[in-house]
Amino acid sequence: MTKFIIFTDLHMVPEGLTIIGLDPYRRLANGIAHVNRHHADAHRVIFAGDLTHGADRPSYERLKAILGELVPPAAMMIGNHDRREVFLQVFSGAATDENGFVQQAIDFADCRAVLLDTLFAPPYDYPVSHAGHLCQKRLAWLDRQLAEAGARPVLIFMHHPPHVTGFTSIDMIRLINGQEFYALVKRHGNVRHIFAGHVHRTISGSSRGIPFSIFKSPVHQQPMPFDTPDASLSVDEPAAYGIILVTDDGVLVHTEDYEIARRDAALA
Ligand SMILES: [Fe+2]
Repeated sequence: MTKFIIFTDLHMVPEGLTIIGLDPYRRLANGIAHVNRHHADAHRVIFAGDLTHGADRPSYERLKAILGELVPPAAMMIGNHDRREVFLQVFSGAATDENGFVQQAIDFADCRAVLLDTLFAPPYDYPVSHAGHLCQKRLAWLDRQLAEAGARPVLIFMHHPPHVTGFTSIDMIRLINGQEFYALVKRHGNVRHIFAGHVHRTISGSSRGIPFSIFKSPVHQQPMPFDTPDASLSVDEPAAYGIILVTDDGVLVHTEDYEIARRDAALA
């Protein structure tokens, strides 16, 4: 039974800065301490993009320093708030494909995890680059990873959801070539679940017959009204990470609101 922990949308900032009054460094440090305490046996902790808020080198360095505290092994992805080049300067050992995209396939006893790079940049041409994209090179790489997996269950992790989420403003900046992505995935027939971030909200459902899960951020969350006009508006709700378990007959997905959890109190 493979166990994954997933943190998405960390939005790390340089020292002294906050986001709507929240401290991304403190929020993530608490989350990592919580994982070390309760899930030190996780096979991977996946950081699913928007690692930083402003893609500046000091923020990546702060993130790297906190990750030094993490007990289970980490796997890094990037999102629309990241810059591939700056990320790779600081995380020089991060896995990339043969074209330099920050994506990798990892095999476990009972599944293959495929981590995609959906950053639609360079050029970092905001707001266009806030949407996600898988170019032909990345789709060809994905095609190979799914073919190699054969009959083994595949879990796909990607920052941008390839399907609609119900949030009008977010749906305008989802993966722009979702049709192409799903056509490829459906052709192979071995993808059991798709995991994404980007929305800063807990969402589950299915698209084209494939289940998906999206997780909250450890920091700021998406306002709940579906028609909030500005995708950058945020609210202060409890920090969260996801727990994914691959079972003999499927996949289990949990979320942990780690800053309000009272597990210790229950045990006392
Ligand atoms: Fe984000």
